[in-house]
Amino acid sequence: MTIEASPEIMTVTQAAEARRSIRTFEPTPIPREHMQEILRVTGLAPSPWNLQPWRFVVVEDAETKAKLQEAAYGQAQIGNAPSVIVLYSDMSDAIDTVEETVHPGMRGAQGDKAAADIRSTFAAFSDADRAAWGFAESNIALGFLLLTAQAHGYNTSPMLGFQPEKVKELLGLPVDARIPALIAIGVGTEEGFAHHRHPLERIARFV
Ligand SMILES: Cc1cc2nc3c(=O)[nH]c(=O)nc-3n(C[C@H](O)[C@H](O)[C@H](O)COP(=O)(O)O)c2cc1C
Repeated sequence: MTIEASPEIMTVTQAAEARRSIRTFEPTPIPREHMQEILRVTGLAPSPWNLQPWRFVVVEDAETKAKLQEAAYGQAQIGNAPSVIVLYSDMSDAIDTVEETVHPGMRGAQGDKAAADIRSTFAAFSDADRAAWGFAESNIALGFLLLTAQAHGYNTSPMLGFQPEKVKELLGLPVDARIPALIAIGVGTEEGFAHHRHPLERIARFV
């Protein structure tokens, strides 16, 4: 089945029901404005202190994509998707520029105190804990991204099967960056597998 990228935007429930991992794609490039809108909506994801540690590199260049595929154990969907989004966390940038993310509603001394509190909280973290924090929170953006892409008529394949150090070197990412996923994205040419999920009573209880 070929799913056309469509201007009809799905509801969250429609996107969650329709989304599957798709690993073969039409080669047609994704218009820049579609990608920008998907990433803008993804950026509406919440994060503690509104710190927004997620960053994106959209790989469209064939040569770079080929090197990325190599760093991802040759996973074919990287080669055949028109774009691959590298979602990473950059805690150094997030903390260095915390004034940008403290809400403008917190004026003057209140905003300064919020920024100082955030900096002193992270100063007490080890480097590894700080990176793990950024990784965990950036996974919220991953969920938003997969649903938003689907809602806008695109299919995705999230991947953790890659060598992070090779990806970081290839794209010049910061040393403390962590990568929640590579996401192949495009208009799919397969249906993917039907959902196979725990029933609700297996994973939730009401007390
Ligand atoms: C963070 C993450 C990493 C994944 N890594 C890979 C991967 O490296 N290669 C792959 O083919 N699928 C990968 N998957 C896809 C999962 O296998 C898939 O989401 C799961 O089996 C459920 O199927 P569905 O996405 O079609 O609903 C990954 C999924 C997630 C969310």
